[in-house]
Amino acid sequence: DEERKPIQVDTIANEVLKLIRSTIPTTIEIKENIESHSVIMGNPSQVHQLFMNLCTNAAQAMEDDGGTLEIGLTDVEHNDLWPLPKAGFKSGNYMKITVSDTGPGISADIIGSIFEPYFTTKGVGEGTGMGLALVHGIVESYNGKIIVDSKLGKGTVFSIYLPITIKREDHRTYEKKKLPSGTESILFVDDELPIAKMGSQLLERLGYRVAFRTSSVEALALFRSKPNDFDLVITDMTMPNMSGDKLAKELMEIRPDIPVILCTGYSKKISDETASEIGIKAFAYKPIAKADLAKTVRQVLDDKDRQHTTGRILLIDDELQIRKLFIQKMADSGYEIIEASNGNEGLKLYREHKPDLVITDLIMPEKEGIETITELKKENPHVKIIAISGGGRINPNDYLHIAKNLGAERTFSKPIDWPSLIKTVKELLNQPAG
Ligand SMILES: Nc1ncnc2c1ncn2[C@@H]1O[C@H](COP(=O)(O)OP(=O)(O)O)[C@@H](O)[C@H]1O
Ligand SMILES: [Mg+2]
Repeated sequence: DEERKPIQVDTIANEVLKLIRSTIPTTIEIKENIESHSVIMGNPSQVHQLFMNLCTNAAQAMEDDGGTLEIGLTDVEHNDLWPLPKAGFKSGNYMKITVSDTGPGISADIIGSIFEPYFTTKGVGEGTGMGLALVHGIVESYNGKIIVDSKLGKGTVFSIYLPITIKREDHRTYEKKKLPSGTESILFVDDELPIAKMGSQLLERLGYRVAFRTSSVEALALFRSKPNDFDLVITDMTMPNMSGDKLAKELMEIRPDIPVILCTGYSKKISDETASEIGIKAFAYKPIAKADLAKTVRQVLDDKDRQHTTGRILLIDDELQIRKLFIQKMADSGYEIIEASNGNEGLKLYREHKPDLVITDLIMPEKEGIETITELKKENPHVKIIAISGGGRINPNDYLHIAKNLGAERTFSKPIDWPSLIKTVKELLNQPAG
């Protein structure tokens, strides 16, 4: 039947996700980004079919080489539709449904025909050419729009815009906002692929950047190849070849300050002493609740930030305001900060205190920053320097360029992007001295 009533598309999307998870090959990763919980006027079985047809095409496109299929659901306002062709869009809010794949894409010579009934590039028995024609028909009858965007060798995105009847934010959106989140980079290790995937997806949705491995040996190799790329490792305890505690030990040989969270069943619990002996920062007990993992991760990452007490920074800047602000921003870091208001004083303090890092302004009285960097490098070729340039007499970027050439590790311009500066400071102080 084609009867229409208010329906919640997110529920249908979730059903479809469940269905395709169990039917499409494991070489295809499935992602979801369901942000809209709004209601449209429609027919549940038609919308179900719409998703299935698009997902089937996406899966078929990635049959040979695998890839990623993603279902997205967001609300967009009419005004945000620009620069899409506005023609035909009545005012009001729209739900945007996307089904994307990383398959071979659709070539320009056929893309104009794909919505036509009976158009197919597939062999007999594989395709009827009716899938997209049906989708197109459904979308049109709902006063919506369908747009295809495809890049050869990269993939295809089908975007469907459907008018929203009731805009709704349900508790899930609310809950998501409340969970502690972050943007740090995490390595997730579990020998069971579904768990590794689920854990990574959960953390990604909280904002973290996540890499996962299903083998502890591979995880160790990855970490060894770029130890400074990760802020945290979460690992399962029971794994073949190398158990989680052994992996943790190896990781800390490479980078002693890397925090590790060990996931284990209650029954396999290892004692707190054993844990702290090998430097495990926290446990997560399986099955892992999303909220618990979110909290533990944030806690461990914040603890780690507070523990960075090893490091002496020399800050050379003629502006008292900037020095004060810097000290204030770094207050929780535990670093020792020495201040100098000009290059001469900076050099003198450098010789006295041998700091691990020098942050210097480039345009100062007495001794210009450029000169200071030159002399510091003469003093110690391995000295780590961050150069900061404010709006000066000449283009500040010219100074930054010179500073870089002289061997400054990083350069920043004013106004200072504090979070990024602080992150850089931590990174530089984490690296072993040159
Ligand atoms: N995600 C996709 N990636 C690449 N090609 C696609 C994709 N979706 C559709 N196509 C192309 O559009 C054609 C028509 O699709 P469809 O109407 O669903 O019919 P069928 O799948 O039965 O061929 C397909 O044969 C294929 O060439
Ligand atoms: Mg099809």
